[in-house]
Amino acid sequence: MISDQMTAALNAQMNREMYSAYLYMAMSSQANAMGLKGFANWFMVQYHEEMFHAMKFYEYLHSQGGAVELKAIDEPPARFASALEMFTKTLEHEQFVTRCINDLMDLAIAGKDHATRIFLQWYVSEQVEEEENDNDMIAQLKLIKDNPHGLLMLDRELAGRATTVPTDFSKGVSAAAAV
Ligand code: FEO
Repeated sequence: MISDQMTAALNAQMNREMYSAYLYMAMSSQANAMGLKGFANWFMVQYHEEMFHAMKFYEYLHSQGGAVELKAIDEPPARFASALEMFTKTLEHEQFVTRCINDLMDLAIAGKDHATRIFLQWYVSEQVEEEENDNDMIAQLKLIKDNPHGLLMLDRELAGRATTVPTDFSKGVSAAAAV
């Protein structure tokens, strides 16, 4: 059982997660255009993570009898001046998402919606990890500054990031995550 207010709020967050995927796809494309294939890989892995986040909301809404509403996804920015700008924008965006997750948690607590509170706990932990990753990347990029050698070394390292979340949801998100 889930309230109409919580159903609407979870749908809005599902849309934000899809926007996040779209934003990181735009950054991956820009990194490719800059010749930074490792950064492009990092952002495409992030795209998959965001689609997984969105699909978890999709499945949870179904499990609670809440109607899924697929709204238009905003257009992300297409141009970023540098790798540092991409990660600065990524951190800003993730801090916004953290505030949204916290607001959802406040709503669940206020509504005594214990199931949703437990469901959202996963996102609270995930946001800590996301912000930490972005802070680490920003710190490294600030050290590198305008050193092309350092940037290419980091690019090579980021090429090794692998997708660890499920990407095929045809049999359900939980089933895919359990594999
Ligand atoms: Fe789904 Fe990066 O927050």
